[in-house]
Formats: sequence, C-alpha cells, structure tokens
Amino acid sequence: MTAANTSLTHPLRSQRLNQITHEPHSRLDNRVKEHDPFASRERFARFVAAQYLFQYDLERLYADDDLGRLIPGLSGRCRLEQTRLDLADLQQPLPVGDESVRFRSMGVGETLAWLFVSEGSKLGAAFLLKRMPALGLSDSFGARHLGEPEGGRAQGWKSFVAVLDAVELDAEQERLAEAAAIAAFERFTVHLERCFAD
Ligand code: HEM
Repeated sequence: MTAANTSLTHPLRSQRLNQITHEPHSRLDNRVKEHDPFASRERFARFVAAQYLFQYDLERLYADDDLGRLIPGLSGRCRLEQTRLDLADLQQPLPVGDESVRFRSMGVGETLAWLFVSEGSKLGAAFLLKRMPALGLSDSFGARHLGEPEGGRAQGWKSFVAVLDAVELDAEQERLAEAAAIAAFERFTVHLERCFAD
C-alpha cells in the first residue's frame, strides 16, 4: 500500500483510483476465473448472485437524490433489478443481503469510489457477455446485468468519470475515497467467495 500510495501522482482522480485498484482488480479477476463461472449455468448463477449482493449494497447510493443531480442517469445505472431477473431466469433464489454497507453513511468521496468500482465493472462485463452464448444466455435472458447500458458502455463510463474527476475533495476525503475503492473490491470478493462456497 505504501509503495502504491507514493506513486499516486496522476492529476485525475479516476486515474489514481485505477492505479490503486489495479492489483485488487487482477486478484478478483483471477478468483473469478478460478471459480470457473462459465462451466455451466449453475456456476454462472453463483457469479450472478455475487453481482446481486454487490448491487444490493449499492442500491441506496444509486437512488441518492443529491448524487442524482451530479451524475447523469444515476438511478438507471443500478443493476439490482437485472440481477434479480437473471437469477429468476436461472431458477435460483435471491441470496439474503446484509445491511452493513447498505446503511452505512458515507461521504461523497467514498460514495463516488464505490460507484467507480460498480460502474467500472460494466467495462469488463462486455468481455463476459461474449461467453454467454455457450451457456444459452444473453443480455435478455440470464445475463441481463452484463448488457450494454442505455446510451452505450463507453458514454456511460465517460459521463461518470467526468463527474468523478470534477468533484472537489479535501485531503481526508481523498484518502477515504481511495480506501473505499479498495474496500469495494474486497466486498465483491466476500460476496464471490460466499456464493461459490458450497
Ligand atoms: C466488482 C468490480 C469488478 C468486477 C467483478 C470485475 C470483473 C472483471 C472480470 C472478471 C474481467 C475479465 C473479463 C475477461 O477477460 O473475460 C474484467 C475485465 C475488465 N475490467 Fe473489471 N471488474 C470490476 C471492476 C472494474 C473496474 C472498477 C474497472 C475500471 C475502472 C474495470 C475495468 C475492466 C476492463 C477495462 C476489463 C477488460 C480487460 C482488462 O483490461 O483487464 N473493472 N473485469
């Protein structure tokens, strides 16, 4: 962490968050691959369940009115409903979410960092979607949450990053944002391990 922090010199916050989460992202990517989510529908459903739990954590942030005034189309960016429908398509029950992140109050820097991780995961989703035909799934059945967001993936990311980079944060909020981006990756990892546990 110390070494990573000293190299956080990029003027753009989005780039600094990219830098700091590079390693957690690769670790998560490896864990996903080790769980072999594309081996069968049953295994893929476990990955969807982890995505559901992560979106459940974030539902209130996506619904926040103040943030909604800052980030274009914020409420429509949440994928909780798509993950619910995907689990129904896959004939799996909804896992029971817990409230520890959902009801934690966060400052704007932390909130943006959690959303950075969730919004960023839509970029990787394009690659995952390509694996779906082999399972007979698509962005309209079983893998809706991986689908192209309204207005396009690139545009959605660009408009989110523009806000992320423009918001003014003091040094403490900046520090909290960086810690929150890492915490969000850890949180997803907890969900992933839980959903693939048995
Ligand atoms: C919970 C959060 C995330 C999850 C579960 C996730 C998962 C994944 C997975 C499994 C892949 C590999 C896809 C493949 O090669 O078949 C991937 C690739 C990718 N992810 Fe993520 N990701 C997350 C967050 C992010 C964030 C925050 C960003 C950017 C800010 C991002 C950007 C990308 C990009 C650009 C790729 C394409 C290939 C690459 O450059 O590695 N992801 N992601």
